[in-house]
Order: sequence, then C-alpha cells, then structure tokens
Amino acid sequence: MSKGTFYITTPIYYPSDKLHIGHTYSTVAADAMARYKRMQGFDVMFLTGTDEHGQKIEEKAKAAGVSPQQYVDKIVAGIQDLWKLMNISYDRFIRTTDDYHMLSIQRIFKTMYQKGDIYKGAYKGLYCTPCESFWTESQLKDGKCPDCGREVNYAEEEAYFFRMSKYADRLRTLLRGGEFLQPPSRVNEMINNFIDCEGGLQDLCVSRTTFTWGVPVDFDPGHVVYVWLDALFNYTTALGFMNDTYDDYDKYWPADVHFMAKEIVRFHSIYWPAFLISLEMPLPKRIFGHGWLNIDGAKMSKSVGNVVDPVILASRYGVDALRYFLLREFPFGSDGNFSNELLITRINTDLANDLGNLVSRTVAMVLKYFGGTLPENQTAAAIDGTSAIDGELVGMVNALRGMYETQMEKYAFQNALTEIFRVTSRANKYIDETAPWVLAKDGANLPRLAAVMYNLLETIRVCAVLLKPFMPITSQKIFEQIGAHEAVQSWDSAAAFGELPRNATVTKGDAIFPRIDMAKELEILAGEL
Ligand code: ME8
Repeated sequence: MSKGTFYITTPIYYPSDKLHIGHTYSTVAADAMARYKRMQGFDVMFLTGTDEHGQKIEEKAKAAGVSPQQYVDKIVAGIQDLWKLMNISYDRFIRTTDDYHMLSIQRIFKTMYQKGDIYKGAYKGLYCTPCESFWTESQLKDGKCPDCGREVNYAEEEAYFFRMSKYADRLRTLLRGGEFLQPPSRVNEMINNFIDCEGGLQDLCVSRTTFTWGVPVDFDPGHVVYVWLDALFNYTTALGFMNDTYDDYDKYWPADVHFMAKEIVRFHSIYWPAFLISLEMPLPKRIFGHGWLNIDGAKMSKSVGNVVDPVILASRYGVDALRYFLLREFPFGSDGNFSNELLITRINTDLANDLGNLVSRTVAMVLKYFGGTLPENQTAAAIDGTSAIDGELVGMVNALRGMYETQMEKYAFQNALTEIFRVTSRANKYIDETAPWVLAKDGANLPRLAAVMYNLLETIRVCAVLLKPFMPITSQKIFEQIGAHEAVQSWDSAAAFGELPRNATVTKGDAIFPRIDMAKELEILAGEL
C-alpha cells in the first residue's frame, strides 16, 4: 500500500562541461532521499536533468566549433553515464531542449504575458554570463558578480519583464512563515538582499535578444526566453504541465522538496514562487539549499577549474564509498572542504574498520563455530535469557530506525549515518565483550555462542537495511553474506530486532571495503586528479 507520493528534484545542471563531485553531491543526496522514501512505501518521482539553453552554452559551443545542440548532446550523454555509474535511481531525466518542454515554456510565457505579468520594455544593466544572472550596479561586489566574483558585462537590449515587484509582500510572507526555505539560516539573506534591499524587489528581465540559443518567444521571434524561467519550469513541465507528453502533474505537484546548493537558492526561493503565484499554481513544499564542496576554502566549480572528477574516485574506491563519504563527511546545510585524505580516512575508519570488519568477523565466526548455519533451537533459547550486554545492543537496534527516520526527515544525512555507525561500533565492542573465541572452547556454551552470533547478524541486518539508500550495492553484499533474504531487507523488517530467521546461513564473501594504503593512494591521486 502506497503511503502517498513524494516528489524530489535536483537542479538541472548546465551541460557546459562535464560534472564534478559538487553536482554528484546534490544528486547522490536526492537519490538517497528518493530511495529512503521508496523503501518506506511512498510513490516517488525523482527528477533530474540538464539546463541546456543560454548565452554561456552558446559561447562554449562556438569556441568548440560545433552547434550548441551537438555540444550539449555530447556532454549530456556523459552526464547520464555518470548517473548510471553513481547508481542514481532517477525516474525521469528532463532536457530543456526536449520539444515538449520548449512548447510548454512558450505556452507559459504567453500565459503570463496575456495575464499582464510580463510586459515589454528595455533592459539596461549588467549581466553575469557564467551565472546567467542580471545585476544592478549597487548589487555588485567590488565591481564583480556578487555570486561568483567574475566580470559582468553591460547589456542594453529590448526585453520582456516579469512583474516581480508585485509579489514582494507575498514572497516575504512565504519566506518568513514556516518551512518553505531550509535551512532557516538562508531566509534572512534572501529577504534582506533581494526583497527589502535598496530599491526593493525589481522586475525581472525574462527575455534576451542578443543571442539565439533558447526557447523563442513565439509571438515575438527576435526574443528567447530567459534561461532561468526556461529552467525553473522544468520541475512542472517534466510532469506534463502545459504539455501532453506526461500526465503526472496532478499526481506529484507540488514538489515535496527541491534540492540545490546555496548559490541558486535566490532563483528558487524568489523567482520560482513568484512565477508560480502568477500562474496560480501551488508552491513547492520545501526548498533545501545545501552547502558547497570547497577545495582549499574555494568553491569547486567548472569555470574555476578546481574540480574533482567523481569517475576517478568511484572507480578507485567504489561507488558506494564515494556516496557514503559525500553524505557522511559534511553536514548537508553547511560548506565542507573536500580532500583526498578525508575521503581515504573516512573509508578506512568507517567502512573498512568498523562496518567491514564487523561483517567479516561475524561471518567468519559463524562459519568457524557452526559451519555457516546457526542452530535454530539453541539460538532461540539463548535469546530469551538476554544478558545486560545483549540488552544494550538489542535496545540500540530497536531504537535505531526511529532515530534514523527523525534525521532523514530533516535531510540530516550525516546524523542518520552517525546513528547507524554508533550501532556498528557498539556491535564490534560486543564481540570483544562476549569473547566468542572463549565461549567456543566449551561445548556447554554453544547456546550462548549461537545467541551472540545471532545478535550480531541481526544487528548487521538492521544496519544494512537502513544503509540501503546510501550504499545500495554494499547492503546487497551484506545481505548475501549474512543470509538475509528479501523479506528481511525491508523498511518494516528494520522496525525491531529479531526478524532474521534463527537458523540463518552465512556465506563467505570478499571484504566489502578493503583497507586503503593512504600514502600510496595520495600519490596516485595527485597524478590523476
Ligand atoms: O546552476 N558544491 O546549474 P549548474 C556543492 N542550471 N554543490 C555544487 C557545487 C559545489 N562546489 N558545484 C555545483 C545551475 N553544485 C542551473 C540550475 S535549476 C532550475 C537550474 C551543484 O550546472 C549544486 O546543486 O551550475 C548547485 O546548485 C548546482 O550543482 C549548480 O549546477
């Protein structure tokens, strides 16, 4: 039975260059959330895609000596390969060059024009091409784009404008009240810098005439639609809004959450709701602006060139290790400094030592002491006489799903993972405390030994269920090794201790995360990245 729908999106990325681990971060986070909601029984729509129009792409294609379409086609194919590699379970991939999207944008633009929310005027001001963003003189920082710090160009052209100023009060109320924009620390910045700033909220230029790579305004063909209006509506056109290609709009809109990094929160928390209010459409329930992955304190970015290639990291350490690292290392709402040392340390400590060792030690002991299959009757008898140490472990496992859920509902991926790894650490300590190798010396202790093994396998199982959204391949490997069949891999089965059959059979497998030699790897990575 479905628990209802859950609609989650990533930004649609510019195919101006191949993507780096910053984009991978947002996409892996959305994927973990989508998988978590699916596991809970929600009917999930997970959308990602590419934002293919605009001056920046046109210029890039020209420099490469190919048409913009040829240019983006090649990069988009690479992006789709990257998401396949990273095990991204998106339900739909939108390209803003898709015919149905372009047609919808023309209809949307015309509707706003007919309503009087779009009018014709002339734009005189500054434009940052890398950000595809308009600025006034007073908004610049040291004469440069306040978002990315790069040169802006003067632009003077006939243009259509959206009556943004009309929506200032509605937007202020929206941002101040409730949970629309997360984390809440971003709210004041938006209100102070863009709504209650000097001159107030300005009408927004929503068409360009000095280049052609965009959606043409059908009733005034010299104009192409401003790339951010074109891009933001992807979240609804991909569901079938203003087109017949899809029929999911009524089912999934409004979105439960849009994920993005903080530099584009402005477009999502001001422009986007204003456009939607203009069309009398429901607003997304939540916008989450996560932090940046930095390198030596500077934002990792395609145009700066300080980027780290996820393909290299995933092929050296595995997709799951990279997915885990990204969501475990940095609190989702804050910036984080990426380094190869951090990545390798995290893999070695959490994945190889803690989780990996727990699984391999436990499986090896069940093989050694019981030939791989736990004796059902003995296990059951021993569990009934739970000792204090057992009680503590079992209590932690019983509480785990609830604590994890609380964190996941807040998009606090780091905390959700920390809860799981508290339990794996406790289980490792439990091995030392119960000393199975001592129990094994005396046949009279076999029931106790069986109970200890069962408790370990069951702890591992519950952790593996809750790790599924983060490390789907690893969870599967663990299930195979500990003999957890499909019925005990579900969300429901992780609610409480004791679902693994008492006579579980383990299978020896390879180490799920081999230890990495830090010094050797750093040398190799320095050559590759
Ligand atoms: O802005 N750290 O596309 P884009 C964390 N097309 N996340 C990062 C990051 C970093 N260093 N670098 C990029 C656009 N990202 C528009 C979006 S949506 C309607 C249109 C991630 O290719 C993060 O999600 O510049 C950020 O918001 C997005 O990539 C920007 O991607």
